Amino acid sequence: MGHFFSEDVEECHTFDPTIMMVTKNSPAKEGLMLNTGNQMTPHRAWNTSRMVLIIVVLLYCPSLSWADSKYDGETLVNNLCSTCHKFTGEGESRFNLKAPDLMWGGSKFQRPWLMDWLTGKIPMLYAKSYRWDRSQTPEKHTAVTQKEAEAIADYFESHLQDSRVKSNAIDMSTFSIQEAKLGEEIFTQHSCIGCHQIIVDGKKIGGPQSTTFFDSGKRLKANWIHRFNSSPPDFVPHSGEFVGDVSELGLRYVTGFIATRGIEDFPYYEPWKSTEFNNPNRKNGAKIYQEYCAQCHGADGKGDGPAASGLVPKPAVHANIPFEKIPLDYLYNVIYYGGKGVGKSSLMPYWGLTIGGNQGVADVIAYLKTTFKGGPQVATTGGSKASGVCPQPRNTKRAPGTFRKMTNPLEASQEHIKAGKTLFHETAMPLACKQCHGEKGDGHGPMGGALNPHPRNFTCGETMQDISDGQMFWIIKKGSPGTGMMAFSGMSDNQIWQLIHYIRTLVK
Ligand code: HEC
Ligand code: HEC
Ligand code: HEC
Ligand code: HEC
Repeated sequence: MGHFFSEDVEECHTFDPTIMMVTKNSPAKEGLMLNTGNQMTPHRAWNTSRMVLIIVVLLYCPSLSWADSKYDGETLVNNLCSTCHKFTGEGESRFNLKAPDLMWGGSKFQRPWLMDWLTGKIPMLYAKSYRWDRSQTPEKHTAVTQKEAEAIADYFESHLQDSRVKSNAIDMSTFSIQEAKLGEEIFTQHSCIGCHQIIVDGKKIGGPQSTTFFDSGKRLKANWIHRFNSSPPDFVPHSGEFVGDVSELGLRYVTGFIATRGIEDFPYYEPWKSTEFNNPNRKNGAKIYQEYCAQCHGADGKGDGPAASGLVPKPAVHANIPFEKIPLDYLYNVIYYGGKGVGKSSLMPYWGLTIGGNQGVADVIAYLKTTFKGGPQVATTGGSKASGVCPQPRNTKRAPGTFRKMTNPLEASQEHIKAGKTLFHETAMPLACKQCHGEKGDGHGPMGGALNPHPRNFTCGETMQDISDGQMFWIIKKGSPGTGMMAFSGMSDNQIWQLIHYIRTLVK
C-alpha cells in the first residue's frame, strides 16, 4: 500500500499509517488534509485529485482495494493491531504490555486458527484476561473481514518469522500416543497444569492463569512450542512464566503433548509398524536378552535373575508367556517405554535408549516370540497363590476410604455391561484385561501365569464379595503397586464403571 502511494504522490515517499487510519475512519479530517493540497502547483493538484479518487475507492470498496497487494497486511497490522500488540523488538513483561507480543506470530500460529481468531470465531484465550492484574473479565477481541484476515495472515507468514525457531525442532511424524501420555505426565508433574488448563476425561482441569491448551494443537505450531518450552523467558520474560527441569526427550514429549491437544484424528506414529519390524534379527535379540534382560528375568526367562530377589512385583516369568498371543503394540511399549510407560512398575526399565531403538526392540521381541511359547503350565503355576485358586490371596492394597465407599453410579443395564465386556476383551489400553485376567475372568490369560502375584480371579465369589465397587474403581484407575496390575489412567470414569458391571457378571 505504501508503495502504491509513493508512485503517484511524490511528496508521500513513505506512507504514514496514521494517515491511513484517519482516511478510513474519519473522512472529515481527511478533507482538511486535502485542502492544503489545493495550494499546491497544478502538477501537484492533479496528483492530489488522483489521490482523492483513490481514497474514494478505498472508502467505498475497502475489500477490493485492500486485497491482493502484499503490503496490505502490514498496513492493516499498523492500523488495527499495533495500538495493542508489538510486532518488532524483544519480548517484554506482560505487565508492560496491553496484549501478547506478536513478533514471532508467523512461527507461532497455525494459519487456519489465525484466520478464525481474526474473524472473531474463537473464544478468548485467557479465561481471566491477559492483564489479569487489571481486570478478570476478558474483553472481546477485534474482528476483521475474511479478506483482511487473509492479508494479515500473509503478513504474519512473510514478516513475523522467528529465526530461533528451527523448522525441524520436533518431528511430529514419529510422535507416538505413548509419548503423548508421557508428555501428559510431565505436564502434570512439572506443574504446567498449575497455570494452563487441559481437558482430562471430558473435564477442564488446571489453573486458568495463562492460555488454555484445550486445542493448542490447532492453534500453535509444534516447532514454536518446542523452542518456547526450551526457554520461556526468551519470549515472555517477567510474565509469570515457568522454566521446567525437563530433559531433551521430556521436552519432546511435553511439546508433542501440547501440539496434539484438540486434534481428534492426529495420525500417531505406530513404531511397531516401522520397517525395523519387517526384518528383525533374532540372533541380536538373543544377545540383547543375555546382556540386558537376564539380570532380572533370568537366562531362561524364569524370572529368577540376580536382581529378582529384591523386586516387588517380581520380573515377569517370560517362560510362561505365549508371546505370539500378546499384542505387538503392547510388547513394543512395555519394552521401549518401560513398565511406567504402560502404567506398571518402573522396576521394569525403559529400554529404547539402551538397546538400539526400534531395531533393538524388534530384535528382542523376535527372540521372545521364538523362544517362549507359554504352555499348559500357565494356568497352574504359583503354588497356593496360583490364579484360579479360590478363595484367592490378595496383594492389592485398600483404596482410600472415600473411594472404597463409592458405589457404581451407572445402572447395570445390558448396554453398560456390553460396553464393559468390549473393553475387557478388546479395547482397554494399554492392554485388554483378558490378556491377564483371562477370557472367562478366572485369571488364566496368556500373561497371567507370568505374573507374581497372579491376576485376580473374578469368578471366585468368596474373594470378590469383599471387593467393593469403589475399591475396584480406584485400582483400575491407579493400578496396584507391587503387582502386575497396571493403571488404566487414560480410561474415562464411565468406562471404568461399565467394566465393573461386567466384572460382577463373571462370578460363578
Ligand atoms: C484493543 C487491543 C487489541 C487490538 C486492537 C488487537 N488485539 Fe489482538 N489481542 C489483544 C488481547 C488482550 C489478546 C489476548 C487475548 C485473550 O485474552 O484471549 C490478543 C490476542 C491476540 C492473538 C493471540 C495471541 C497469543 O499470543 O495467543 C493474536 C494472534 C492477535 N491478538 C492478533 C491481533 C491482530 C492481527 C490484530 C489486528 C487486526 C489485533 N490482535 C488487534 C488485544 C488486542
Ligand atoms: C506459574 C505459572 C506457569 C506454569 C507453572 C507454567 N506456565 Fe506456561 N506460561 C505461563 C505464562 C505466564 C505464559 C506466557 C503467556 C502469558 O503471558 O500468559 C506461559 C506460556 C506458555 C506457552 C505459550 C502459550 C501461548 O499461548 O503463548 C507454552 C507452550 C507453555 N507456557 C508451556 C508450559 C509448560 C510445558 C509448562 C510446564 C513445564 C508450563 N508452561 C508451566 C505460566 C506458566
Ligand atoms: C498385565 C496384567 C493385567 C492386566 C492387563 C489387567 N490386570 Fe487387573 N490385576 C492384575 C494383577 C496381577 C492383579 C493383582 C492381584 C492381587 O492383588 O494379588 C490385578 C487385580 C485386579 C483387580 C482387583 C483389585 C483388588 O482390590 O483385589 C481388579 C478389579 C482388576 N485387576 C481389574 C482389571 C481390569 C478391569 C483390567 C482391564 C481394564 C485389568 N485388571 C487388567 C493384572 C492385570
Ligand atoms: C531391573 C529388572 C528388569 C530388567 C533388567 C528387565 N525387566 Fe522386564 N520386567 C521387570 C519387572 C519387575 C517386570 C514386572 C512389571 C510389572 O508387572 O509391573 C517386568 C516385566 C516385563 C514384561 C511383561 C510386562 C507385563 O505386562 O507384565 C516384559 C515383556 C519384559 N519385562 C521384557 C523385558 C525385556 C525384553 C528386557 C530386556 C531388554 C527386560 N524386561 C529387562 C524387570 C526387569
